[in-house]
Amino acid sequence: MAPSTISLAPSTATASATESTKLKTTPTPTPTQAVNTLTAPLPYPPAFSPLLSHPHHESTPVIGTEFSGDFQLSSILSSPTSLQHLASLISHRGVVFFRGQEITPSQQRELVQSLGELSGKPATSGLHIHPLTRENGKDGDHISIISSEERIKYENARKERERVRELGWEKGEESQLASVGWHADITFENVPSDYATLKVHTQPATGGDTLWASGYEVYDRLSPSFRAYLETLSAVHNADRFKEVAAARGHTLRNHRGAPENNDLELTAVHPVIRTNPVTGWKSVFVNRSFTKRILGVSIDESELILNHLFRLVSENHDLQVRFRWARYKDGETGDVAVWDNRSTFHTATDDYIETGGVRSGDRAVSLGERPFYGGQGERSRGRREALGWRGVERIY
Ligand SMILES: [Fe+2]
Repeated sequence: MAPSTISLAPSTATASATESTKLKTTPTPTPTQAVNTLTAPLPYPPAFSPLLSHPHHESTPVIGTEFSGDFQLSSILSSPTSLQHLASLISHRGVVFFRGQEITPSQQRELVQSLGELSGKPATSGLHIHPLTRENGKDGDHISIISSEERIKYENARKERERVRELGWEKGEESQLASVGWHADITFENVPSDYATLKVHTQPATGGDTLWASGYEVYDRLSPSFRAYLETLSAVHNADRFKEVAAARGHTLRNHRGAPENNDLELTAVHPVIRTNPVTGWKSVFVNRSFTKRILGVSIDESELILNHLFRLVSENHDLQVRFRWARYKDGETGDVAVWDNRSTFHTATDDYIETGGVRSGDRAVSLGERPFYGGQGERSRGRREALGWRGVERIY
């Protein structure tokens, strides 16, 4: 019988170094199976969608679609058909951008919940409550304030924590690689996110871009034999660092976080390394540098080797990324909005404005989807390139 916990050796580059936390290695038995109820992927593109009659363009061939400010997301909140088309568009394109939006935080919550419901998410999955959300906070449980000021406090705490660990690092010797920030949201949850949205309403004069990367395309860049091997593996995701942040801030972690599967304080989950997105039927790599600590069933050296290779495919391939420049609006309420599928994309912030005193702030709402699954081979579980009939190109240098 597999052990229920395993001790992480201190030298993993992928884990927080010197971490000796006991991490569970088997999925937590949960009240429901949290299965997506779609019987087939949603069509793409939709046969006819009023949504697509609004001016829009693809940001890159691989990832991202952008709508102009002529279209307001709030105008389709009462149209299930348009919302389902939007869910399909987001899942196929990975992330969709909307310029000049007036959508409110409560409408953002309504939006991502509806996108999930109209694309088969389990009835037991609601909106995520982040473990660091304070009870009775003025912004409510389901909106995370993305704030540069909070981020600075958090980063300072993180650097101090790493310094005092037995690493020998001093201040100023931390990693200088911005790529350490690539992640998918809340993958430490047994039932993580399907859709998430961020509206940035306060933006510095320059800087503060956000980047997304396609997990579908990362999968497609693996050789068939390596893909087949990875499809047999599971990985441990963990967010113990939030425990330290909560302690530093003087409050406790939230233990009821939007789904019955997300009710413990372990902040640890086991997920397949390759995940099928039920909305597209496409396979994606589903490990990320922020939360994935190790792969099960292999040595710690092999785990590190595999994870670092997958992380490099995300961060070193600019042709599977899109970089979004948030516009600045004068009224402090209008903002650009991004909506993305956390099952099949990664993203990272750009902190280049902080040294110049820039301030950036926005509202994020995160919906919970199904328990991640690997769907095997076939029409409902295949690579994006195969589904689109792309043959792949020889890379020319
Ligand atoms: Fe994020």
